[in-house]
Amino acid sequence: MRFENMMAVVSGGASGLGLAVTERVLAAGGRVAVLDLAREAGERLGAGSSGKVLFVPTDVRVESQVDQALHRAREFLGRIDLAVACAGVIGAGRVLGREGPMPSETFQRTIGINLVGTFHLVKAAANLMQIQDPNGEGERGVLVLTASVAAFEGQIGQAAYSASKGGVAGMTLPLAREFARIGIRVVTIAPGIFETAMVGGMTDEVRKSLASQIPFPARLGRPTEYAELVRHIVENPMLNGTTIRLDGAIRMQPK
Ligand SMILES: NC(=O)c1ccc[n+]([C@@H]2O[C@H](COP(=O)([O-])OP(=O)(O)OC[C@H]3O[C@@H](n4cnc5c(N)ncnc54)[C@H](O)[C@@H]3O)[C@@H](O)[C@H]2O)c1
Repeated sequence: MRFENMMAVVSGGASGLGLAVTERVLAAGGRVAVLDLAREAGERLGAGSSGKVLFVPTDVRVESQVDQALHRAREFLGRIDLAVACAGVIGAGRVLGREGPMPSETFQRTIGINLVGTFHLVKAAANLMQIQDPNGEGERGVLVLTASVAAFEGQIGQAAYSASKGGVAGMTLPLAREFARIGIRVVTIAPGIFETAMVGGMTDEVRKSLASQIPFPARLGRPTEYAELVRHIVENPMLNGTTIRLDGAIRMQPK
């Protein structure tokens, strides 16, 4: 599918990796519906976009909000070629922490945003994509999900986060198999450590230590590098049903 003039929906599109995707789509002549909780950043993005971005305040945990947001997105965009799930939280914490065992709600909050929220977006986007006309290659749309290398080698304190991201990686193939019939591809990106607000709260020391664990290049990833992979996934029709690591060869240690 051509990346130029894409009509895209991006959850978490007001910050970090999602914002980079939004900007990349705009740079290629497309338009974007941004679903995010971050009202101020989202509204600023919409206001500065010359009408190319529709910001829809959305909590991806709430199915009805995501469904409504996708309908508003389709009205604004005319069609939906691409949906990218970037909304997420880090949800760190030991299962047996200093303040006692992790409450179930803490675990469920991370799963609710990262995994169930991704499911809500995928389902609502595919439901609208399936009634669109296909392109010459039979493609109706592309879904890009965001896992993490923590899906495969989660560190101490990442039980909830890793479970949520393992769930995203795990649903990629069955979704691709199910949606093959309707010409919708599903690909997941598992980023290593990227320079976004999510790691912005860490001290310089922690960031340096993280960067030094990345074999090459020994630096944090740039959100534009994530966005470039999204572009490639859109343009390469053989990429489907898989999770791609984008991580400079990092293999996370236990802590
Ligand atoms: N930055 C990294 O190093 C890294 C590494 C691996 C995976 N990831 C994943 O990439 C994705 C994007 O993260 P980022 O680094 O850009 O972080 P970020 O904090 O910059 O962006 C995340 C966005 O998600 C939004 N969000 C959070 N909860 C939401 C909800 N319930 N409903 C709607 N929006 C919500 C936030 O408002 C924010 O705009 C996340 O899924 C994250 O787990 C990031």
